[in-house]
Amino acid sequence: MEKLQILLIGSGGREHALANALTKSPLCAKLFIAPGNPGTAQVGTNVDLDPSDHAVVVRFCLDQRVGLVVVGPEQPLIGGLVDALTAAGVPTFGPTRTAAQLEGSKGFTKDICRAHQIPTAGYERFADQGKALAYVRAQGAPIVVKADGLAAGKGVVVAMTLAEAETAVETMFGGAFGASGAEVVIEDYLEGEEASFFAICDGMRALPFATAQDHKRVGDGDVGPNTGGMGAYSPASVVTPEIAARVMDEIVLPTLQAMRDRGAPFRGVLYAGLMLTKEGPKLIEYNVRFGDPEAQAILPRFTGDLAALMLAAADGVLPDAAPPFSPRAALTVVLAARGYPGTPETGTEISGLDRAEALPGVIVTHAGTRRDGERLLAAGGRVLNVTALADSVGEARDRAYAAVKAIDWPGGFCRRDIGWRELGREK
Ligand code: AMP
Ligand code: GLY
Repeated sequence: MEKLQILLIGSGGREHALANALTKSPLCAKLFIAPGNPGTAQVGTNVDLDPSDHAVVVRFCLDQRVGLVVVGPEQPLIGGLVDALTAAGVPTFGPTRTAAQLEGSKGFTKDICRAHQIPTAGYERFADQGKALAYVRAQGAPIVVKADGLAAGKGVVVAMTLAEAETAVETMFGGAFGASGAEVVIEDYLEGEEASFFAICDGMRALPFATAQDHKRVGDGDVGPNTGGMGAYSPASVVTPEIAARVMDEIVLPTLQAMRDRGAPFRGVLYAGLMLTKEGPKLIEYNVRFGDPEAQAILPRFTGDLAALMLAAADGVLPDAAPPFSPRAALTVVLAARGYPGTPETGTEISGLDRAEALPGVIVTHAGTRRDGERLLAAGGRVLNVTALADSVGEARDRAYAAVKAIDWPGGFCRRDIGWRELGREK
């Protein structure tokens, strides 16, 4: 096959992990990242494009004869970047604006689940505060209140008491999330263990890609406010082969069918956030992209050709063969700036990355860093990801934390217990 110029959209740790995987592909002639970060600059060429300016991105792709665009984050997907690129004839991995509603609107996804008997929590949608409050009072607690649209992971309140649920409804209708909270989904509380399931889709077909477990709360022991994710490991053994088969048959494939029926075939990564309940796996939510930091743990285990797989998905011609993975485990620890997930302290200096990366099986990816001459500075909330590969999650954990120790960054912190559920199972 002819080699490709590839453009990757995004600037986080997920994109650094994607950049590492794409540059390993025999198909990749050159990788551009827009806008990228100091980590992606080590493996490709950062270009200063604004992904929300579709005309500029399309122009760049035509000028540079880009043969594959990979969109990392959700905002450009929900904003329709894939539609603009596809209309210009640029092969693009990621869902269209309509297909991205699986992440962009919780109500949209719940209605698909209801119409196609996809297992998920029972729910109702509300555009009226009074009706929402009446419903919450009739149902009682525990109950879950969600802003319909994107809210950076903060639009979900798992209310253990009726008072909390009422406050959540009032806050959302009061405009706390702007237009994202103009509609609210209220759903039954599900009990079980959470896991993330990733499938690569070409509109018609889906290939199971990998499983992972994220750690959303900021503090050890899963306490404190929600974050974008403080660490992850892959694979998640709690998703047994039997459960994975059920997820494909009962959740992922019916969703692909539903999207085709609606004239919006889904291409890209479908990330199912699952609750593994006593009755089986249930869908909590969909994301239409790789998870961050899940990608940092999943992609180093992938042994195939990522660019070829993504191009096949974009072209609607996925192969039958399951994507190949190393049997090894990977664990990622997120290093965040003090203050995160509130207001992170930026500008603090980081050193010792070379010492960390010299350790066996260790990969450091950048998320929120910036270069200032020779110095590396913190420039965001989640700043670095330290991933280690090993024969077990326990060993990967030990390696990752040894690497964290080698990094000198007084301005940062991390959770010390990433992987605790799996370590309990390995024992
Ligand atoms: P989401 O943004 O939809 O992933 O929700 C954030 C978190 O809220 C999830 O990771 C779960 O821990 C929790 N959650 C969401 N929906 C439910 C539910 N129906 N029952 C219990 N917990 C939930
Ligand atoms: N780590 C959760 C997410 O990417 O949505």
